[in-house]
Amino acid sequence: LPAELIDGKAIAESVRKEVAADVERLRRECGVTPGLAVILVGNDPASHTYVSSKAKMCIKLGMNSIKETFPADFSEDKLIAYIRELNARQDVHGILVQLPLPAHVNSRHVIMAVDPRKDVDGLHPENIGLLCMGEPRFIPCTPLGICELLRRSNVEVCGREVVVLGRSGLVGRPISILLSSKNKYGDATVTICHSRSQNKADICRRADILIVAIGRKRFVTADMVKPGAVVIDVGTHPPQTDQETFCGDVDFVPVKEVASKITPVPGGVGPMTIAMLMRNTVDAAFNLSKTPRC
Ligand code: GUN
Repeated sequence: LPAELIDGKAIAESVRKEVAADVERLRRECGVTPGLAVILVGNDPASHTYVSSKAKMCIKLGMNSIKETFPADFSEDKLIAYIRELNARQDVHGILVQLPLPAHVNSRHVIMAVDPRKDVDGLHPENIGLLCMGEPRFIPCTPLGICELLRRSNVEVCGREVVVLGRSGLVGRPISILLSSKNKYGDATVTICHSRSQNKADICRRADILIVAIGRKRFVTADMVKPGAVVIDVGTHPPQTDQETFCGDVDFVPVKEVASKITPVPGGVGPMTIAMLMRNTVDAAFNLSKTPRC
């Protein structure tokens, strides 16, 4: 039997409904409207698309959106000064600096300038530290989205063997920490596999759940997947010719004949990332306005 599709669009929609209900409750009970500031430096077309989607989603869910675009040669000092203004603003609860930044800007300096209580991207060292300690405050949006996809698709994680292909700071590393920790998403046995790993295919074939975030088009082939495994594809590669469509890091057509459940590209992990950003922003607004959650 071909794999069941994990419908990221539908699951993201149910997350958004929960978030919209919390936005309404914050407004009604505390007079607070959550605000998200998104900053883009430069003119990468994909980044422009992502930033616009984030801003539109804020409005759709009843939140405030502040979108600032700076030219590619904008200085690191000016960027940090702008972030400090946002840190001080009462109406801004979440701040996200779209990555990657131009080469002359040090991303670490920029991320560290964001008030960790407003770091809804979960990338500030304080938030990464809390995640590593098993006391997460903000979990990076893509890893959190993957965990919610698994949980809401009734995929058992506890005690099972997860292989994460990729070790990036944005996805591979945080999700491996999250799934191996003692929490509602965790208690898995996690192996991280990366470009320098030997026997990648053998390691991937051990996985009950295979999470692929290696950034290489159709890298995972059917022989790398254990029959019945759950496959999560984090890659997104835009079409390069008129005949092509978007594809992921997984060779979808043959792999879906082997897996039990699989995320499509597009419509799998992608929609969840934005939904979790909205979730984190509302959580930030709750925390900053000291409102006890129901
Ligand atoms: N670029 C691609 N994904 C992300 C993300 O999750 N956060 C930020 N800040 N930039 C990104």
